[in-house]
Amino acid sequence: MIIGVPKEIKSSENRVALTPAGALELTRRGHTVYLQASAGEGSGFANHEYEASGAKILPTIEAVYAAAEMILKVKEPIESEYPLIKPNQLVFTYFHFASYEPLTHAMIASGATCLAYETVELPDRSLPLLVPMSEVAGRMAIQEGAKYLEKPVRGRGVLLGGVPGVEPGRVLILGGGIVGTQAAKMAAGLGAQVTILDVSLPRLRALSDIMPANVITLYSNEYNIRRLIGTHDLIVGAVLIPGAKAPHLITRDMLKMMRPGTVVVDVAVDQGGCIETCKPTTHDNPTYIVDDVVHYCVANMPGAVPYTSTIALTNATLPYAILLADKGWQTACRMREDLRKGLNVIDKKVVYKGVADAFNLPLHDVNEFLA
Ligand SMILES: NC(=O)c1ccc[n+]([C@@H]2O[C@H](COP(=O)([O-])OP(=O)(O)OC[C@H]3O[C@@H](n4cnc5c(N)ncnc54)[C@H](O)[C@@H]3O)[C@@H](O)[C@H]2O)c1
Repeated sequence: MIIGVPKEIKSSENRVALTPAGALELTRRGHTVYLQASAGEGSGFANHEYEASGAKILPTIEAVYAAAEMILKVKEPIESEYPLIKPNQLVFTYFHFASYEPLTHAMIASGATCLAYETVELPDRSLPLLVPMSEVAGRMAIQEGAKYLEKPVRGRGVLLGGVPGVEPGRVLILGGGIVGTQAAKMAAGLGAQVTILDVSLPRLRALSDIMPANVITLYSNEYNIRRLIGTHDLIVGAVLIPGAKAPHLITRDMLKMMRPGTVVVDVAVDQGGCIETCKPTTHDNPTYIVDDVVHYCVANMPGAVPYTSTIALTNATLPYAILLADKGWQTACRMREDLRKGLNVIDKKVVYKGVADAFNLPLHDVNEFLA
């Protein structure tokens, strides 16, 4: 198959959909890989590394789209890319269709086959192509939180690990899923006292079994949250209710119960945030202060560490990309239900319920296209 990897052109996006290691895997199987010149640069991969892996470098994004049967990307196509997408071209990337109607209509009009990373789903309902970014964001939440606890950036002036003779900082984590677990591991590793809140008892039991002694688990309810926010230095928002906005577990009035310089890192900002005063920020200006509480609410946290994020993402996407290249999307999706669930738009028709529901569009049976 002919595979095209364009450079990401959405602002502040430095990830790339394929590493030189991935290019080698594909070319060794006899596939042709075209990479747009400097597509890997933002993640630290030079053109010559791809060439050494058998990929061919094309000078422009137009040339990559024109040559490829399958486009491998990271972010959804932006407007200037819409006319480059060809009928029947397979586009494998994050789309998040339900959040942007013009993209949905553009992809329907293109006639392309759109396979969305975010809806690839395993039998246990986990989302294998979202997990790596949650892992990055969870670990980053502590790194960023520790930084903003420093006094010069208006934090409390607390060193999370403490030192001999001084108690460590306290970290409160709302939600013990992927983000929360990774945040807890990082905070515990630094020596902080960590409390994880979740509404799932099985989840709390699992965490209690695997976490070190400086991590405790508690059931999440308003009473416990009000009781704890005044004694914790760093609060991480990591709640997710699938398909819904995040609940506001910390309301505006509760900020007054926190000590000045407390830092809130609301990772759930992309679902509206679990702190009422959360509003999305960017890496250029990541924090703001409300009632002396430092808010960090960057909606694309993994974007700050593109080297790690690109490798983490492609570790998860490459096996699917190889299967798609080896078998073609129809056979691959017949073979694998997880991949089939990634199909959102085929031949000008919507085949994913969430997208059809979001914009009141007719829903077609995906199996019609796999026969
Ligand atoms: N900002 C970013 O850059 C970024 C990056 C990755 C993920 N995210 C977001 O982080 C959030 C968490 O993602 P995840 O992968 O960890 O999800 P997850 O599904 O693995 O975990 C969510 C957890 O929240 C728990 N929960 C639900 N209601 C709760 C409540 N009332 N109190 C406490 N816990 C509750 C669930 O039981 C679950 O354990 C999502 O909104 C995701 O989109 C943001």
